[in-house]
Amino acid sequence: MTWLGDAYPWIKAFHIISVVAWMAGLLYLPRLFVYHADAPKGSQQSETFKTMERRLLRGIMNPAMVATYVFGLTLLATPGVVDWHRGWIHAKLALVLVLTGYHMFLARCRREFAADRNRRPARFYRIINEVPTLLLIGIVILVVVKPF
Ligand code: HEM
Repeated sequence: MTWLGDAYPWIKAFHIISVVAWMAGLLYLPRLFVYHADAPKGSQQSETFKTMERRLLRGIMNPAMVATYVFGLTLLATPGVVDWHRGWIHAKLALVLVLTGYHMFLARCRREFAADRNRRPARFYRIINEVPTLLLIGIVILVVVKPF
């Protein structure tokens, strides 16, 4: 398992790169929903939003989420990286699960928009747009400061 230890900085670098790509999508997709919610159903504008949302989710967000998990779990499996007696890692993993739930919720909203079945107002998406920012702040403080 020493090769895992040698690869540690590389795996962490790719973990952070994947996280940045995933977060970019988690912040941008609800922004698209804000404008899409006000576009008349069946309009050219609405159809363009559908294409942008599908490509963002399938082309960037899904692969970036999978990569974040693969590199993150590899870091967890690297001997000496995580002390399971500390609280921060448990709190971080809990917040990551909430972030994953948020991703799944956005995927459901995208399917509703694709079928012209969205019923939520633009204001709803404007508000939930703050959720990933708060989770990001919490997760980064937990992994970098490791306060408990
Ligand atoms: C998907 C599940 C995830 C797992 C299993 C995981 C696990 C880990 C592990 C074990 C480390 C190494 C910690 C250390 O070296 O002390 C790490 C580092 C890091 N993780 Fe994650 N992580 C995940 C998702 C995320 C997410 C979603 C974010 C941000 C939103 C994130 C941000 C970071 C950062 C910034 C670091 C570097 C911390 C540092 O060493 O300075 N991770 N992760």
